Amino acid sequence: MDKQTLINHLNGDLAGELGAIIQYLTYAAKASGPFRPQLSAFFLAEVADEQLHAQFLANKIVSLGGEPTTTPRPVPAARTNKEMLQAIYAAEKQATADYTQRAKEAEELGEGVLHGDREDDEEERLQPAHEDGELPVRGRRPHRGGPGREEPRPAPDGRERPESGRGEL
Ligand SMILES: [Fe+2]
Repeated sequence: MDKQTLINHLNGDLAGELGAIIQYLTYAAKASGPFRPQLSAFFLAEVADEQLHAQFLANKIVSLGGEPTTTPRPVPAARTNKEMLQAIYAAEKQATADYTQRAKEAEELGEGVLHGDREDDEEERLQPAHEDGELPVRGRRPHRGGPGREEPRPAPDGRERPESGRGEL
């Protein structure tokens, strides 16, 4: 593992975050049915978080002497609400694995500033999409931001889902 390899891997992560912005934004537009308002609000709320993740990674790449990618990872096709939720769960799970790996790589290089809690956070709140299409976000905690954020975020937004605490859709 050398610095350029870490930069390349971080650029892969950045492509994922840029793709996530597009994914949440377009899925918000495509959400349908009686729960469209809740689904759209949920997806749109994620866009700002993903932007912060992308921002963190772009800054980190530049600080390592790299050039941040401007090419997003392709967004998986998804037609239905259920397919969108499943695609999002898969993407977040992938991000969790990637950041866990990246934290190890960064530490190896003495760049151990990539640890963070976003992975646990996102995976916890994005429990597997259930067969019945239930929105997998019960018990969601306020989002705490991207990997290894260097500055404390303003107070947790305390954002609640419209149907907060009431369970199934
Ligand atoms: Fe993200």
